[in-house]
Amino acid sequence: MRWKWVYIEDVSRHAGEDVEVRGWLFNKRSSGKIRFLLIRDGTGVLQATIFSPEKCHPLFAQFDALTQESSLIVRGRVRQDKRAPGGYELEIADMETVQIARDYPISPKEHSTAFLMEHRHLWLRSRKQHAVLQVRAELIRAIRDFFDGRGFRLMDTPILTPSACEGTTTLFETQYFDQKAFLSQSGQLYNEATAMAFGKVYCFGPTFRAEKSKTRRHLIEFWMVEPEVAFASLEDIIELAEDLVLFILGRVLSRRRQELDILERDTKPLERIKKPFPRITYDEAVQLLKQKGSAITWGNDFGAPEETMMSEIFDLPVCVTHFPAAIKAFYMQPAPERPDVVLGVDMLASEGFGEIIGGGQRIHDLGLLEKRLKEHNLPRQAYEWYIDLRQYGSVPHAGFGLGVERTLAWLCRIKHIRETIPFPRLLYRIYP
Ligand code: 4AD
Ligand code: MG
Repeated sequence: MRWKWVYIEDVSRHAGEDVEVRGWLFNKRSSGKIRFLLIRDGTGVLQATIFSPEKCHPLFAQFDALTQESSLIVRGRVRQDKRAPGGYELEIADMETVQIARDYPISPKEHSTAFLMEHRHLWLRSRKQHAVLQVRAELIRAIRDFFDGRGFRLMDTPILTPSACEGTTTLFETQYFDQKAFLSQSGQLYNEATAMAFGKVYCFGPTFRAEKSKTRRHLIEFWMVEPEVAFASLEDIIELAEDLVLFILGRVLSRRRQELDILERDTKPLERIKKPFPRITYDEAVQLLKQKGSAITWGNDFGAPEETMMSEIFDLPVCVTHFPAAIKAFYMQPAPERPDVVLGVDMLASEGFGEIIGGGQRIHDLGLLEKRLKEHNLPRQAYEWYIDLRQYGSVPHAGFGLGVERTLAWLCRIKHIRETIPFPRLLYRIYP
């Protein structure tokens, strides 16, 4: 007979049927005449049993030889059993060992982070790491569904670029035949062009920052989704950002409960989140922070301590707007009647997780853009095409970027961002 190969997440639909499960040994134990195997196949963990009324069974020797992470194929009948984890178990009739794993380095005992990072290729199989990355996949799907559902067009912006978007200090330089090129810090500038062609667009891809920061919030390579909308104002994109965050929250809370449980994430603070999120200007934020004892002075950017303090004041994500022009990127539109501040927004997540979104309204006036490029010492010829956009039907427009890993760290309440991407690129780590 041919056995039907099923995935563990689907076994409940096969109760009473004979199936095949292909996976790896997570754990095993014996109890009298029964041998228990916990098998994982990437979609879940299933208990499988070998039972013998006699002292011996043709499969017992094979069972004895199995070590943690050995790969195997088991065949048998699915049975509902309340005592089994997940409510179903497999009564093994036949078993095939694919490979015996020798001395799997990650045991249930505690390991140092350095050791686990060195074994990231194996660490991914552990329950918590697996749960975080399941939530990541859900988060990414939710983002796509949100924008596709609202008529945004997906525009893939280039990774190899001739110019900077977010300041020249964090550029990754590379050789492009006989020219210099940089890895993209953001798809925004290109999306300002595609927005004028398609109205509302988003890009979603990896971005790179040669940031010499070794903090729990910084990756060198991270994923960002960036919507851009022609004719939109700062106000419009703050609403869009709120809706996006609420959509993601709803999806993850409804579809990834099990993973959030594995991560012991208390979901109450997330369930409380409703719109509108509190909005304050940078001026007001500085006042509040000073009252709380911060040493911040007007004109300085928030650091991690300020972001943490802000989340102690509000228990919802907060939108901070009207930052000093001097600490923001060259493309930010100045506020009317207050040219020292810009129509930018940072959304700070709750529970001390800091900035997850940055964005705002872009300069649409030709003369002003040219002036800013000069002030920032940016080479005009690399931005000719970008300047062009201000000559042919220029309109006010706005957009933002949401960092996937920062958002995931917040949703899962993961302290360090290194666990939110399969293979993190960090200041001192590019292996594995
Ligand atoms: O605030 P940022 O630098 O904004 C931009 O890049 C704009 N061009 C986006 C736009 O308006 N289209 O980055 C946006 C977000 C941050 O809020 C943060 O979530 C994430 O990207 N981010 C990082 N995540 C991980 N590691 C880093 N080093 C990050 N830098 C930014
Ligand atoms: Mg920012």
